[in-house]
Amino acid sequence: MAGSPKVFVARRIPEDGIEPILAACDARVWEDDLPPPRAALLEAIRGCDGVLTLLTDKVDDEFLDAAGAQLKVVSNYAVGFDNIDVPAVTRRGIPAGNTPGVLTETTADLAFALLMAAARRLPEGDRYVRAGNWKTWGPLLLLGPDVHGATIGIVGFGRIGQAMAKRARGFGMTVLYHDVHRADAAVEAEHDATFLPLEELLPRSDFVTLHVNLTDQTKGLMNAEKLGWMKPTAVLVNTSRGPVVDGAALATALKAGTIFAAGLDVTDPEPIPMDHPLVGLDNCLIVPHIASASRATRGKMAEMAAANLLAGVRGERLPTPVNPEVYDRA
Ligand code: DGY
Repeated sequence: MAGSPKVFVARRIPEDGIEPILAACDARVWEDDLPPPRAALLEAIRGCDGVLTLLTDKVDDEFLDAAGAQLKVVSNYAVGFDNIDVPAVTRRGIPAGNTPGVLTETTADLAFALLMAAARRLPEGDRYVRAGNWKTWGPLLLLGPDVHGATIGIVGFGRIGQAMAKRARGFGMTVLYHDVHRADAAVEAEHDATFLPLEELLPRSDFVTLHVNLTDQTKGLMNAEKLGWMKPTAVLVNTSRGPVVDGAALATALKAGTIFAAGLDVTDPEPIPMDHPLVGLDNCLIVPHIASASRATRGKMAEMAAANLLAGVRGERLPTPVNPEVYDRA
């Protein structure tokens, strides 16, 4: 559309987001199922007023240089934005947007599903049946820990961590949490949640679930030492970002039985290579980063990402900027 803002959308997203973008912009959408290779991405964004990125697209100085000085907005189709060098976009006065809030409950649903599936060995049971091994009811067959009444340790007590607490309370679980900032007393009371340092939370938890952002401080948070603080009967769930867990150390712990099982929505790297030691372990359940993958939630994320993109190209404040400080400069 001549005269319209030029934008690049780095993958097909649900119609709820694509329609308003196509209606208002001169838009190019990357049609492939795989992300644009770096060179193609840098070429596609040249001269754009706005770019809608995914967590697979690294936004850094090289990206910003390639786009050019006219770039007005980067809109990330995700709540997490560790793919964006926020200081770099902020230095250039460019607002970046994300999609907070809409995926909280859907992500917690999947985290709780992983917790239950890993504890009660659902993928193993399914493989057992399909392999033709089911001969009779077995008193010792595929035993695992109870979920109801157990103790859950929630690491990262933001929106998704608190949504996990809500689910855990429904299962009569004792809720422990850790975060860099202790929650308000009212929030603790609402979830009947007890704050503990990690060195106390990990040895006391039957389930440990990770809900932190990926930062320099949380990279490798669950390393060999911390995994060693967990109970041998415990289950680790990760729906945050892969690098928060040291994958090699986790594989060693699962193999040695120093923890019971793991349920992972995220790995490092993604996709996980088929020869990674975690892939061959029966007590490690891995799904392909689908925590927000309900039709409704992905649609709402698309609407929000489009709203951020369109506000940005029009020079309006983004509804959900990750660097609101860009607006303080004017
Ligand atoms: C996010 O939004 O950060 C998730 O990882 C993908 O929905």
